[in-house]
Amino acid sequence: LADLRRRAAATLRRNWRGKATVPTAALYPHQWSWDSAFIAIGQAHLHPRRAFAELTALLDAQWGDGRVPQIVFNPAVPEDAYFPGPAFWRPLPRRGGPPPGVSTTGLVQPPVHAAAVLTIAERHPGEATDAAVRRLYPELARFHDYLFDRRRVASGLVGIVHPWESGLDNSPAWDGPLDAVDPGPAHGITGLRRDLRHADAGHRPTDADYARYMAVVAAYRDRGYADDDLPSLPFCVVDPLFCAVLAWSEQALAALARRVGADPGRHVERARELTHQVHTRLFDPALGCYVALDVRTGRAVAKRTVAGLAPLLLPGGHRPVLLDTLAGPSFAAPGVRGVPSYDLTAADADLRRYWRGPTWVNTTWLLWRALLAHGETEHAERLAADVVCLVADAGFREYFHPVTGEGLGSDHFSWTAALLLDVLA
Ligand code: DGY
Repeated sequence: LADLRRRAAATLRRNWRGKATVPTAALYPHQWSWDSAFIAIGQAHLHPRRAFAELTALLDAQWGDGRVPQIVFNPAVPEDAYFPGPAFWRPLPRRGGPPPGVSTTGLVQPPVHAAAVLTIAERHPGEATDAAVRRLYPELARFHDYLFDRRRVASGLVGIVHPWESGLDNSPAWDGPLDAVDPGPAHGITGLRRDLRHADAGHRPTDADYARYMAVVAAYRDRGYADDDLPSLPFCVVDPLFCAVLAWSEQALAALARRVGADPGRHVERARELTHQVHTRLFDPALGCYVALDVRTGRAVAKRTVAGLAPLLLPGGHRPVLLDTLAGPSFAAPGVRGVPSYDLTAADADLRRYWRGPTWVNTTWLLWRALLAHGETEHAERLAADVVCLVADAGFREYFHPVTGEGLGSDHFSWTAALLLDVLA
């Protein structure tokens, strides 16, 4: 274990770029939003100051309207190192957009940041932590205000407008909503894609996925990333992981508010209301988990994905059913390690392809946290042991084959290293 810890620390050192950490050098050469939150949690065990610097760098790119961007582009990295690069996202709005001179995408990612800050603050108390919390709290609160005020859809739930915003880009849950999207002229997309130079095409989203990703994001960009009338965008869904993480982080914001002497009232209220909406509107008893909602059609998406287990982070709800699903054949079987990203028994599972089956360390970590919070210690320890085992056998890979443990996607992946350090702490 000492050797694994040392190698995890080396991975985070290797990916540190002075102000923030890249997820991995070649495939993701900029700063990613939810990656930074997970990275900070692990980094806090090594360099608490660097952990807060990571989050500060991200929040320094916060838009005037409060959104915290999915990617903050590093100006030192060439335009064509990543697709779609900074030029594609322009023009960014001047009013309500990013700070002058800062280049970002116009999307968001699951808001794990407040929960990350509270996690760090609870484990590493002290004056430096207090100062960091005082600095970060108002910015995190503004991000949540943006999500609750501007992204509210379907009475009370919070929506996302691109599969990239879910963090689970090619989840089978997005197949149906994306089928309705006209991909436009798709030819040439392979030539533009940079990810295929750094990862096996069989581990990545397909060209058909990418053509639609580009059509969806172009529609949002072309209206200046405006959030009025969200269902008129080509893609608008409610994702159970995004909403569960937001409600969980909103609870964390209430705790952070108390620490800085601010009024926690609105956070408590919003967390309670969103939790209630998730439990009452997104649960599918037949599947034994929560499901996404296609806001454009009003229809639920009947797919059993790891996102549908994320409401285990919240108080109340259908916990016994979720625990059964998590322990049942869709997500567990002899030899299966971690929590697969998709139902292993589904005909369209693809155990090597990104979010269509592989085990990822971040979602496994979220469920580990949820299990610990509910006193499901033995189950939580099994997941932690799985993470250790996967990394010990295959290295700090981006994701893993849930059955064989084969390492997939890129190597030297930051959140794999960071969250391994956290489960070992
Ligand atoms: C990618 O480039 O594959 C990312 O997942 C987008 O955030």
